[in-house]
Amino acid sequence: MTSFRIGLLGHGTVGAAFEALLDERAEAIERLTGRRPEIVGVLTRSRGDFDEILERSELVVELIGGVEQAYDYVRRALDAGRHVVTANKQLLSRHADELAALARERGVHLGFEASVAGVVPVIRVLRESLAGAHIDRIHGIVNGTTNFILSEMSRTGSGYEEALAQAQELGYAEADPTDDVGGADAAAKMAILARLAFDAPVHIDDVRYDGIAQITGADIAYARELGLSLKLIGTAERLPEGISVRVHPTFIAAGHPLASVGGSFNAVTVESDAITEITMSGPGAGGSQTASAVLGDVVAAIAGAPAASPPLERLPIVEDVTGAFYVHMEVDDRPGVLAQIAGIFGDAGASIKSVVQHGTGERAQLIMVTHPLARSRMEIALDAIGRLAFVRSAPRAISVIDEEFE
Ligand SMILES: NC(=O)c1ccc[n+]([C@@H]2O[C@H](COP(=O)([O-])OP(=O)(O)OC[C@H]3O[C@@H](n4cnc5c(N)ncnc54)[C@H](OP(=O)(O)O)[C@@H]3O)[C@@H](O)[C@H]2O)c1
Repeated sequence: MTSFRIGLLGHGTVGAAFEALLDERAEAIERLTGRRPEIVGVLTRSRGDFDEILERSELVVELIGGVEQAYDYVRRALDAGRHVVTANKQLLSRHADELAALARERGVHLGFEASVAGVVPVIRVLRESLAGAHIDRIHGIVNGTTNFILSEMSRTGSGYEEALAQAQELGYAEADPTDDVGGADAAAKMAILARLAFDAPVHIDDVRYDGIAQITGADIAYARELGLSLKLIGTAERLPEGISVRVHPTFIAAGHPLASVGGSFNAVTVESDAITEITMSGPGAGGSQTASAVLGDVVAAIAGAPAASPPLERLPIVEDVTGAFYVHMEVDDRPGVLAQIAGIFGDAGASIKSVVQHGTGERAQLIMVTHPLARSRMEIALDAIGRLAFVRSAPRAISVIDEEFE
């Protein structure tokens, strides 16, 4: 039996878990593939030499994170004809096209299952099982930190700051949670998924995103009365004019498969005419879970899975998408208020699906859910409503997904 030589870049949470898992599974992998995987060198900031490791390896596992250094190592490894497996979403959301082209040229495998949704095998499903399907839309909860925070706010009625502190205490959020709560992490993952779903280059700069810091416990409570729950949802959508990839806090109907995904779990829903809808869910992060996804890619490379995908053609990015909205307004509750607001929505082409009012007097809370309209039209309506004398604070709109798959 010959060994299969692996160079490991990074020995932190995932790198160390990968080494341990490989050790545990090496014999089973040898039975499966005929080759026994073996780590021939480890690189961290304080040990190992990249060139030496590259020289000795057939496959390089990149688990250092960050963009510049990781890009340099991955590019050099592919260029030298080594297979590469990485969990690095920031790297791929910026350089996937170039790296995939290089892998294709050199005839080697570029695996990145662990870069999105941890152990949930969404990349493999898009690349292989659904390779022949015409995918219309993907919705994903692809950031466990924000899903944990929003689930806590919903479960306990706590505010954003309190739920974030709880997430940090339990290790679900980093000391600097900016990339997670601001939506950048989810945006990078949606760029990776959109690229695979639509066979088109998608860069993180093509993804519009915002985070959850402006969400209040009251939003979640009001929306629950309307049968909605709040998630940070990534959407990749094929539209007649092109594609749209975005991440926003979004209310979803109780019957949607993502509504029940709680805690730090991730889930991705893929919609296509041919398949209706499939949903995959599971732990989105964690050392051993992510290491398991990395190992799956390593086994695929040993077994000679198909190398890289063909070159992709760019599609137009659509900025102004249509959807339903939850609108929160704080108003002085006097006769005629509802009629004036309804008139403004009517002028913008929006029809109202449901209305809830909380309290009376000078600071009544008025919550409306609209039927779908273009985001630009909603912005015009919000601007007009914000200028009405009886409106007490700037109105806020949050997207709503009201499909249910029965
Ligand atoms: N943690 C998760 O749950 C998770 C989930 C999904 C994906 N990922 C991805 O997996 C990757 C690794 O994450 P992690 O959580 O394992 O990170 P981590 O715990 O911070 O470990 C990073 C490792 O890389 C090494 N490293 C960093 N910069 C380096 C450089 N310039 N040269 C050489 N070595 C360097 C570090 O070396 P030192 O030991 O010397 O500091 C450390 O061993 C990231 O791309 C991350 O986004 C992580």
